[in-house]
Amino acid sequence: MTHDPRLEVFANHRTVRKYKAVSLEPGHLEQIVWAAQRAPTDATAQMYSFVRLTNPALREEIARVSNNPHMATASETFIVLADVNRLKGLLELKGYDFGNWSAAAIHFAIGDAVMAAQNMLVAAELLGYQGCWIGGILGALEHLVEVLELPEGVLPFAGLTIGVPDETPPVRPRIQTELVLHENKYHKPTESELETALERMAPITARGDWAQTLSRYFAVGGTMEAREITLRKVMASQGFAHVSSDLNALFARTLEAGYAELLIRKVGSEYQAWVDRPDRAHGGTGSSPYMAILNAILEAEKDTATINH
Ligand SMILES: Cc1cc2nc3c(=O)[nH]c(=O)nc-3n(C[C@H](O)[C@H](O)[C@H](O)COP(=O)(O)O)c2cc1C
Repeated sequence: MTHDPRLEVFANHRTVRKYKAVSLEPGHLEQIVWAAQRAPTDATAQMYSFVRLTNPALREEIARVSNNPHMATASETFIVLADVNRLKGLLELKGYDFGNWSAAAIHFAIGDAVMAAQNMLVAAELLGYQGCWIGGILGALEHLVEVLELPEGVLPFAGLTIGVPDETPPVRPRIQTELVLHENKYHKPTESELETALERMAPITARGDWAQTLSRYFAVGGTMEAREITLRKVMASQGFAHVSSDLNALFARTLEAGYAELLIRKVGSEYQAWVDRPDRAHGGTGSSPYMAILNAILEAEKDTATINH
């Protein structure tokens, strides 16, 4: 399909990870943040924030722990946050009790944050820059919560770098439109349509095998599974977890780590949990039963990893 020339910015989009060592032109930072704030937002609430990283040492360190070196070298680096903390403050200021809607907070605050940050990226691209979203921050979530001093109700979603490109990567392919645009009802892709998608995406990979690339992230033992437990922990500590539905998964994890029993009790204002098996036990404490169990399981998993290696 030939695109309408007014949509040129989308034709030129490519993720860039190598930047010239220059600053944004004067006034451009304000322009792109303005564009971010023009994004639509659920219920007028604006459930997002950005932390702009300007301290070089902090940028270096976050780039290292997130495994994305361009976070240190881009003209601008942001951490994109889902944020219901400010909303809570607004309501409490006027005497309203903040509701209990942690699952909806994940849904709408992340949606808001993504819309605002993507506006920011498109605005930057319209001004002649390029950028990169960074999910790699999930490898350093607990650390980010600490160093950025994120209060409850604030959850990092991703990083975003913006700068003047010092590389021209190819425009990367996409799967066929028929698989993403459905009419009136969902069309489950056939095997042959999936094969076509794999062929279309093959050039994005070094070995011409997109399924293999995807498997490194999404298959058993991939990056996503590795991030899962910490993400759940940080979601819980930041007030975003829909905790009760997680308990079955948590107990399944204790079994996987070789522990058959899970004990929990309240001591003062804290909860203590143990995962037990005949030869050893591991404890954890937390401000909720969920956090206590999770901390106990993390200890047990560390121990299991030591035994297995
Ligand atoms: C939520 C999200 C997280 C991403 N995380 C990373 C990342 O950690 N590191 C990176 O180099 N690229 C990252 N990317 C960029 C994607 O790899 C890139 O968008 C994809 O390969 C398609 O390429 P294109 O944007 O050039 O079309 C991320 C993109 C998104 C939307």
